[in-house]
Amino acid sequence: MILRELLPAGRDLLQQHFEVESLGLEADRKTMLAGAKGADALVTDLTFPVDGELLDAAGPQLKVVANFGVGYDNVDLEACAARDVTVTNTPGALTNATAELALALAMAAARDLSGAEKDLREGRWQGWDPRRWRGFELSGATIGVIGAGRIGARFMELVSGFGGDRLYTSRSPKPDLEQGLGAEKVELDELLRRSDLVSLHLPGGSATHQIIDERAISLMKPTSILVNTGRGTLVDSLALARALEEGRLGAAGLDVFDGEPTVPEELLRAPRVALAPHIGSATYRSRDEMARIVAANVVAVLEGREPPSPVTP
Ligand code: GLV
Repeated sequence: MILRELLPAGRDLLQQHFEVESLGLEADRKTMLAGAKGADALVTDLTFPVDGELLDAAGPQLKVVANFGVGYDNVDLEACAARDVTVTNTPGALTNATAELALALAMAAARDLSGAEKDLREGRWQGWDPRRWRGFELSGATIGVIGAGRIGARFMELVSGFGGDRLYTSRSPKPDLEQGLGAEKVELDELLRRSDLVSLHLPGGSATHQIIDERAISLMKPTSILVNTGRGTLVDSLALARALEEGRLGAAGLDVFDGEPTVPEELLRAPRVALAPHIGSATYRSRDEMARIVAANVVAVLEGREPPSPVTP
């Protein structure tokens, strides 16, 4: 059962093997709980919790929860393990797309493209002005990546052309980044203090909740740029908006929001912010490949094989 929507690239594959139903993007919780009943596989996504209630509504025959996305903070892994349900995600497929969006947001934030475009569209451009719309350059900037997994590492590669120092935080050292790109592993506070651009590439969940809070922002340079393409929960949006408002932070580029699709009002009002509606993985190539991986995971589990990308608690 596809609890919302799976693109044809994946749905067609599933239909070659199984009876497939899809509840559509508008499905509410009640519809999902009823729709899940009797399913051997649930295709889920980040927009709703996959918890004990949903698993029990599906029933004891349920074998796999295939999450359409690399992040799985919406899935209660313990509850799945307790019911012997395999969980899978879609790593790899969206690495380039998300890293490229982080770069786009970094550049848009650095030059306040959103603010400049708004001025232009709303008739406030009165000619070339040497004082207005000045921003920051990334060339030579110290760039800090928080969470050097696949996406963080690819982002680091993409920005290496800017030529400045590169810092990262990670639980384990990344020899490829250190030898290949000259990156330096540092503690979070040092990264925040030294970086001109900080890009977040961590998963969501309680361990990373508001890792960028008032204290973290106070360590950053007043000209620093913060980019978040990970999860909205990584950032205290009120603290971020206040820092932008008061000139204690240079700019921000955000693709994800705590409580999305509602975007905190304070961020909508804050200056020098480039905003996107959670489109990190939204390329044709990435989304189709994600859908194919979802299908491959379901097929493998239901045929009794090890899935390509299992997630373990
Ligand atoms: C999207 O946010 C994902 O986790 O794939």
